[in-house]
Parts: sequence; C-alpha cells; structure tokens
Amino acid sequence: MPSLGVCYYPEQWPQSFWKRDAEQMASLGIRWVRLGEFAWSQLEPEPGQFRFDWLDRAMDLLLGAGLQLMLGTPSAAPPRWMLDRFPDMLAEDAQGQPRRFGSRRHYCFSHAGYREAAAAMAARLAERYADRVSAWQIDNEYGCHDTSLSYSRAAEKAFQVWLAEQYESIDALNEAWGTRFWSMEYRDFSDIALPQQSVTEANPAQILAFRRFSSAQIERFNRAQIVAIRQHSRAPISHNLMGRETGFDHFKLAEPLDFVTWDSYPLGFLSDRLDADDAHKHAFLRQGDPDMQAFHHDLYRAVGRGSWWVMEQQAGAVNWAPHNPAPLPGMLRLWTWEAFAHGAEVVSFFRWRQYPKAQEQWHSGLLRADSSASEACAEVSQIARELEELKQLSAQPALTPARARVAIVFDYASCWAWEAQPQGQGFDGFMLAFANYRTLRRLGLNIDFLSADSEDLSGYDLVLLPGILSLSAPLRRALERYQGIALLGPRSDLQTDELGIRVPLGPALTGLSVTSLSAQTFPAREPLAIAGQGALYWREQLSGEGEVLLRDAEGAALALGGPHLFYLGAWLDDAARLALLSRLAKRAGLPLRDLDAGVRVREAERTALTLTIAKRALKSTGWSCRQRRLSGGR
Ligand code: GAL
Repeated sequence: MPSLGVCYYPEQWPQSFWKRDAEQMASLGIRWVRLGEFAWSQLEPEPGQFRFDWLDRAMDLLLGAGLQLMLGTPSAAPPRWMLDRFPDMLAEDAQGQPRRFGSRRHYCFSHAGYREAAAAMAARLAERYADRVSAWQIDNEYGCHDTSLSYSRAAEKAFQVWLAEQYESIDALNEAWGTRFWSMEYRDFSDIALPQQSVTEANPAQILAFRRFSSAQIERFNRAQIVAIRQHSRAPISHNLMGRETGFDHFKLAEPLDFVTWDSYPLGFLSDRLDADDAHKHAFLRQGDPDMQAFHHDLYRAVGRGSWWVMEQQAGAVNWAPHNPAPLPGMLRLWTWEAFAHGAEVVSFFRWRQYPKAQEQWHSGLLRADSSASEACAEVSQIARELEELKQLSAQPALTPARARVAIVFDYASCWAWEAQPQGQGFDGFMLAFANYRTLRRLGLNIDFLSADSEDLSGYDLVLLPGILSLSAPLRRALERYQGIALLGPRSDLQTDELGIRVPLGPALTGLSVTSLSAQTFPAREPLAIAGQGALYWREQLSGEGEVLLRDAEGAALALGGPHLFYLGAWLDDAARLALLSRLAKRAGLPLRDLDAGVRVREAERTALTLTIAKRALKSTGWSCRQRRLSGGR
C-alpha cells in the first residue's frame, strides 16, 4: 500500500520540538521519516568523538509516534575536519581548481581514504541502529551540483589503473583509441592524463573511457557503504537519485541496491533543467512540465527493478532554480497521485520545517520556520485521507501500474557519447529520449524503460531505441528474435563502444548503412515531407532496402526497414515524431488517445487516474467511481 513520508532534520531544531514534531507528522498521515543524511558534523564533531545520544532520542520519539525510519549515511557532507585529515580529498573541476569547503558534495569519489572513512561511518551507524531503522539511504544525490566528474590527482591515478585493467596492454589501448591520429600515442598507462585542458577537443574514446571510469568510481564508493551496512543490518538499502542526472550509470549503480528513490522538484526542474521554449515554461510555470516527473518515475521504476520511492517531493516554492514560484493549489496532491499511479511505494515530502538560516532558508517546508502549517499541510492531509479510502475500497490495496506495451531503451553510456560528440548544438541523448517519451504520453500510452542490456523485448508491442551508441550483445539477440515493432535511431549502432565509426558502416542488424550525417543546429529546420507535417533537425543518409516509413522533401528515405525492425535516420520535430509514432503504434495494435498538451494518463491496475495538469484538476475514477476537482481548480 502506498504511503507518505517526510524529510526531517532534528539536528536543526531544539530537542524540545521533537516530540511534538513526531506526533504532528503521525497525525498528518505520514508513515516514514528520512533523517541523518547531512548530519556528520553533529554525529562526529571531532575525529573519533561520536555523539549519538541526540539521534537515539530523536529516533525514539519518532518510533514512539509510530513512524518508520529511513536513515541516510552522511557522506554527501564531509565535515570540515575531514579536510585536515585528507587535504587531497577534494574533487577538482576540469580547470584543475579544487572544489572548496562551504556547502556539500566536495569530495572526490576516487579518494580511497575518504571512501573508507565514509564506509566506516556507515558501518558504525548500521551497528548502532540496525534495530531501529527500516530502510537505509546511502549518501545523497550522487552527481548533484555537477560532481560526478573529478579531475583530481587521485582520480588520474585511479584512471590509469582502471585503463590498465580494461585494456591490459598499452598497444591495445592505442589501437582502440586510434592514437596514431595527431601523434597521441602512449608508451605507458602512466602517461595518460585525464581529458581536460587539451588545446582542442580530446580524443572521444578517451572522454568516453573517463566517463565510464567516473561512473565505476561512484559505483565503487556506493558498494563500500553497502558492504559496511550489510555487516549489521538486513534492512533494504537505497540511494536517492536526482532528475536529469546522467553523470553515472544508474542501472549499474542500482544493481547491488534493494530499491531506489529520487527527488521530484517539478517547478525547479521546469525552470532549471528542461530544454524548452519560453512559451512552454510560462504555460507550466506553477504546475511543472507534464512529462518530466513521469519520465523519471518510469525510468527509476526500471532502475529500481520495480521498487522505488519519491524521497523528496517538492511541497512549495524552492530557492535554487532560476525562477521559483509557488505551486498552484492542488499541485502537491496531483504530483503525489501521479507518482503513486506510476508505482511509487512512498512519496516523501521535502521537508518538515523551513530552516530559517543557511543556504535553503527560502526553501519551503510543510511547516513554516515558526512551526505554523504551510499551504501544503492541507493537501497532505487530504492525500492521507484518500489513501485510507483506497485501502478500504480495495481488497488488495496496492496501486500497481498497468502493464506497459511500449518501451524505450535508455542508456547512460549513450548520453555520454552524445555529450562527447554532439555533432552540433542542442543535440543531447537525454532530450532525445525525453522527446520520444513525451510523444508517446500524448498518445496516452503507458511506458516502461529498459536498460541497454535487456535480453527480452517480447512483452512489448512497440520498442523505441533512440540514440543508442551501440547495441549490446543481449539487446542485439533480443532484437533478432523480436516480433513486435522496433524503431532504432537516430544515430544508433553507428559507432563502436570506443566511439569510432563502425566499419562496415552500421547499423548492421537492419541491413542498412548510414553513409553520412548532417546536423542542423537547432532551431534551423529543413522541411520534411510527412503527410505535410513536421520538420527535422538532423538527418542521416541511409542506403539499403526495405519499407520506407518516412521520406524527406526530395523523396529520400528517412526511416526504413521492416517488417519488425525499422531504422530512423532523423531527429524529428514534435509534429513529425507524433505522426510517425502514431502510425507505428497503430500498426502495433495499441489503443491511442489524443491528449491535450496538459492532460496525461497513467493507468494502474484496477484504478485509472487521469491527471489534468494544465487545468489543475485531478480526476480519479476506479476506486471512488466519481470525479473530483481540486479545490481552487479553474
Ligand atoms: C535536493 C537535496 C536536498 C535539498 C533539496 C532542496 O536536491 O537532496 O538536500 O537540497 O534539493 O530542493
């Protein structure tokens, strides 16, 4: 049964507040409390001098009020004294400048001393709190504040060791990277520097290797804490992910985890990390983009192998985006139900009370700094009541997302390849996947994400593989057997894992070859003949046989292949993509809707929630068999 949670920082408040806070949380209908993830300086004020008494007491009060606890390990915020212990632990940026103390996430993932110190702290917490904690969070938001890459000395040394393990001989590396070009040949692994400050672009194979290495360092840092916790506790372990964060491979990070959580800030993301025009941003300023949250719900459901929470749900105005409006009345409720409809087990709000000091003093909480209830509290109570109602109405009160018949393959290494070689401004792997997702959502479809190592596509009628660097062996085999409709491209399977052009030219599986590509920088457009609709930003010259799905104005094929696997050699605009994907979806036998810009549907088994985002109305049918309007709706 889905439930509600909140992020709580008892260390920011007098102890005299805690009991009342706990009781108030429980009476609001909150069931889970996450705490501790930034509290290192309070837990170990001096090296080796631990102070757990306050946390013991806070936990006792929360548990006493019937709340369940998720404890965060505090490694995202190493205290100042840690720098005296490890002066070289700071991450460095690409200009070679160390990140300095004064906020958070200033550590380098490759620093062995800090990794061990963080794991030792995790072990200590697990030993002390195994019987009080029902779930663990390791660190917080890897990669946030642009921290997945570090160019420190520790990172460079570790990169050389990693390369030696990957390539075994320097000759193999030189051959794979094509270093005879521009005399970049290396004589020893110890000669290889990080790809930074080169006069012009660095070798793309080196850049991609550095991205893979950096991702592996994060996984290693994470695993050290999993091992530490597992010595003492069997409670499920998660990491709390960020939105539009492609600095590391989330699928790989999550392999040893039991579940994942993520932070949903719809208004912050619209303003801060979505490539969209001003008209779109203006239309959804106080509601959030209609697809951005759902995209991450679906992606992280895949990353968490079905088990995921929203750890931090925006509950009011934030302070960190270029524009920080308050949500429209009713949005918190809508965002929460949307997350549940996508399968979230818990939606937890950020944060309990607004702290009147430091960096986030203008960031809202459920309570204001004077402990009065903010506008969000009434919505939280309403959601809690509705959850109770749902429990009573359904014999089996889980809210399971209905089976999706469409899937999108999302690959982090492909995002790195797009970053290393965008071939023109504005081309980006995340945005390509997002554009496809948005189009499928406009058609009213339920969508799953798959990793690029997927071995079986047979549960889906339509599979999209946009911008996939190279097909893994399992995915290639799955596509060979596939009996539905798959659309590969643009720029898919044209290059090797080392970011070199495939020879013979790819994509091999389709029997086609791409002989050249032309990237038209956004917003330049080339008219495209597709039932008179649409334009393209990027085109590949295709040669080969097959059914032509799409042609340009001159009649040259832009999408062809079949009967099961098609290749699309174009980055289409929204109108052309909508036309193409609706044709394919119809052919795949999928029931289609034609939803307005602000209307989205996510079906859950036995329950249909229709989320009308632009109009601020959330209509629920299924469990209550009646429609509701949010108070204050237009
Ligand atoms: C998240 C972070 C929180 C808090 C929040 C503010 O990204 O995990 O610690 O900073 O943003 O919106």
